[in-house]
Amino acid sequence: MGERSDGFVGVFDSGLGGISVLRSLVAELPHEDFRYFGDSANAPYGEKAEAQVLELSQGIAERFLADGAKAIVIACNTATSAAAATLRAAHPDVPIVGIEPALKPAARAFPRGRILVMATEMTLHLDKYHELARAWGGECEVVPVPCPGLAARIERGDLDAPDLAEMVAGLVGGYAGSIDAVVLGCTHYPFVRAQIARALGPGVAFFDGGAGTARQLRARLTDEGLLSERDRSGRVSFASSLDTPHELALYQSFFSMPL
Ligand code: DGL
Repeated sequence: MGERSDGFVGVFDSGLGGISVLRSLVAELPHEDFRYFGDSANAPYGEKAEAQVLELSQGIAERFLADGAKAIVIACNTATSAAAATLRAAHPDVPIVGIEPALKPAARAFPRGRILVMATEMTLHLDKYHELARAWGGECEVVPVPCPGLAARIERGDLDAPDLAEMVAGLVGGYAGSIDAVVLGCTHYPFVRAQIARALGPGVAFFDGGAGTARQLRARLTDEGLLSERDRSGRVSFASSLDTPHELALYQSFFSMPL
């Protein structure tokens, strides 16, 4: 398919959280070129109005397409809920892959379990989540846990600081010993999975949507004849609306930190 399959995949999030998804994308599709954009100047999205998140997402998608993106990954649950349908309707010829809380695999693994879904207030408020809970919740007890402030705090880095562990304990510590699984329904949260696990105690399974999103991208690129045919490893580049050396170094460190 020549030229178009040589194009890059644009990946975006409100900030650096979507780098957790980017890691899955690169693992699944190592020959693709990825350009990551984090809108850290406008993070967090989860505490904004839906219309504003839609507008910001449209702006980012338009810029990717103007630069020649062959596909777009919305590496943000909040922006997927607020903007995916509109973006797909506006660009029916471009694969646009979103992410949603991984409730389906969690409910399959724990069909009668008690499952926490940690996400932004907006994700848990919008229809997409309610449809997901209706479709896949089955006989589980699904407990939505909005986490105001958590994504914004993760944006600042310094993930081992005690204030972050305290914040996480304040959000989920009350569920310690009483749940089977946690769905990390915001792409920032895989970076504090260890802190969440500590607050909840042993024996809790974790689910996030990164790997599913990567498989979905592979399927869409394959269907459209857009998979890269090159042999070398793809290139990964980063840009941020907070365009400072400090911010871009933070993005790089989130890309390579052991999780
Ligand atoms: N990372 C985003 C998500 O997956 C949201 C974080 C934010 O509130 O900006 O929902």
